[in-house]
Amino acid sequence: MCGIVGYIGKRDVAPLLLEGLQRLEYRGYDSAGIAVTGPKASGLKTVKAKGRVRDLEARVPSRFKGTTGIAHTRWATHGAPSDENAHPHLSQDEKVAVVHNGIIDNASELRAKLTADGVEFLSETDTEVLTHLIARSQADTLEEKVREALRHIEGTYGIAVLHADFNDRIVVARNGSPVVLGIGEKEMFVASDVAALVSHTRQVVTLDDGEMATIKADDYRTYTTEGSRTTASPTTVEWEAESYDMGGHDTYMHKEIFEQPDAVDRVLRGRIDDRFSTVHLGGLNLDAHDARKVRRVKILGCGTSYHAGMIGAQMIEELARIPADAEPASEFRYRNAVVDPDTLYVAVSQSGETYDVLAAVQELKRKGARVLGVVNVVGSAIAREADAGVYVHAGPEVCVVSTKCFTNTTVAFALLALHLGRIRDLSAADGKRIIEGLRMLPGQIAEILKREDEIKKIAKSYADARSMLFIGRVRGYPVAREASLKLKEVSYIHAEAYPASELKHGPLALIEPALPTVAIVPDDDLLEKNRAALEEIKARSGKILAVAHQEQEKADETIVVPKNENELDPILMGIPLQLLAYHTALALGRDIDKPRNLAKSVTVE
Ligand code: G6P
Repeated sequence: MCGIVGYIGKRDVAPLLLEGLQRLEYRGYDSAGIAVTGPKASGLKTVKAKGRVRDLEARVPSRFKGTTGIAHTRWATHGAPSDENAHPHLSQDEKVAVVHNGIIDNASELRAKLTADGVEFLSETDTEVLTHLIARSQADTLEEKVREALRHIEGTYGIAVLHADFNDRIVVARNGSPVVLGIGEKEMFVASDVAALVSHTRQVVTLDDGEMATIKADDYRTYTTEGSRTTASPTTVEWEAESYDMGGHDTYMHKEIFEQPDAVDRVLRGRIDDRFSTVHLGGLNLDAHDARKVRRVKILGCGTSYHAGMIGAQMIEELARIPADAEPASEFRYRNAVVDPDTLYVAVSQSGETYDVLAAVQELKRKGARVLGVVNVVGSAIAREADAGVYVHAGPEVCVVSTKCFTNTTVAFALLALHLGRIRDLSAADGKRIIEGLRMLPGQIAEILKREDEIKKIAKSYADARSMLFIGRVRGYPVAREASLKLKEVSYIHAEAYPASELKHGPLALIEPALPTVAIVPDDDLLEKNRAALEEIKARSGKILAVAHQEQEKADETIVVPKNENELDPILMGIPLQLLAYHTALALGRDIDKPRNLAKSVTVE
């Protein structure tokens, strides 16, 4: 969702900002804009465009010079996607430009007041009120003007502000929407996401909620929105700039699917303890004494992360014998859930920014719960808010739909389950069995990926389906859920996931040759039950694609995947179905990395 980039230094700023915006395109947006100035410039210059960054670029005139600037990709919330509603928003005297991520909750009240005072609004956005408030402040410094304006604001924001009368600086502030400073050599960057910075610098400062910063070409300082200085020491971003490139693949989704053997290797690295047949999770902050006191585990996440949490819950129940379940964080936060002191709450998020997850974590902490984060982006809001956590080390994920991070999150859950299990009743022999299974995963994933051509052919034969049913039982059910989500996200084919055990309680009524079923059929204790479901579908002339550990007689086609330990099989069984979704979408000519209407990080309500 919405992205911010800013720069102050000596270089020609427009190309730098446009490049930064391109790196943020993956987050999802519908319009973009840029404002520039510089020590020699008189006033601010702005260009905005509905559509893609390339549409904006086409509008930027050749004489659009400046060495200081801010830019934005907008995801419409208040007001439709349009040139006018794109950021930056300018004050009436055109001296102040603001880019903003987040939502101002009291925007309509403020708009009414400002309109009554004679302010003419040019857009329908909530952000524009902030621009006028800053411009109308009588304070002497830009920092004080911004601070004064923010005092009127209720809601969330990550902002960057330019002022023609203070063109040696950019002032930024954060409350609920990420702001990261990038420290260069006599130049400074700001962005809402390190993706926009890493090709220039890997030294970053992440602002906390309630923090502001002034960046100048050779200096920065951070302070609270109340004005007291804070100490922010730069950290080094581990992710390489190249990780954001396509690396020879046609899409990020393809690249990220194929990165999975390496990514899984990373999440395991340095964590396995063969001596005690367990794992070390450095950031867990949960000693054996506390771990034994956990009576339930509740996992919260959204979208694909929620599905990874469903798999995680099963692993925790199976390996640690602690009752565990997963729930969409978006539901949990609205239902005044009973918060229990003996429950370990786990928040799962690739980005670490998803607003519903963050809000659930904040509510849980307010009620005194212990919250663990299972997060990919180091230093992200959820990672900071959680009491402790396990990073999933998938590396940057750019495609809107999640693949490698999903897989790594399920592996991170396997580690957590093993850890909790070995503190409780899981035997050393079982611990060893799981460790051996974990070590096999990267090689087995690589084996599945070698079957791409076969899966591509299958995908082509399903591309004209109007709808597809995905079924799985117990361990296979979350796999079916995620595979069905993947297919609908990238191909726009309607897909529904159902527990195989529930077939005869409803979905059987839909079965006919035109509704293909994808069935997850692991070789475990439920194999015969699953085979019976296939028979029921076949008897009604339904077409079946099975993902199984051996050819399924009743299926029209079977994708055979390598067998691992029963508990770990779900990690592997979804992988061919990522490729199925990918190749179906490709056959249909979809915008694979940026499916319509979806955003990578949903940072607003
Ligand atoms: C959005 C994305 C999904 C993602 C979900 C949760 O809806 O489109 O792909 O699974 O957010 O994101 P998170 O970053 O919290 O895992």
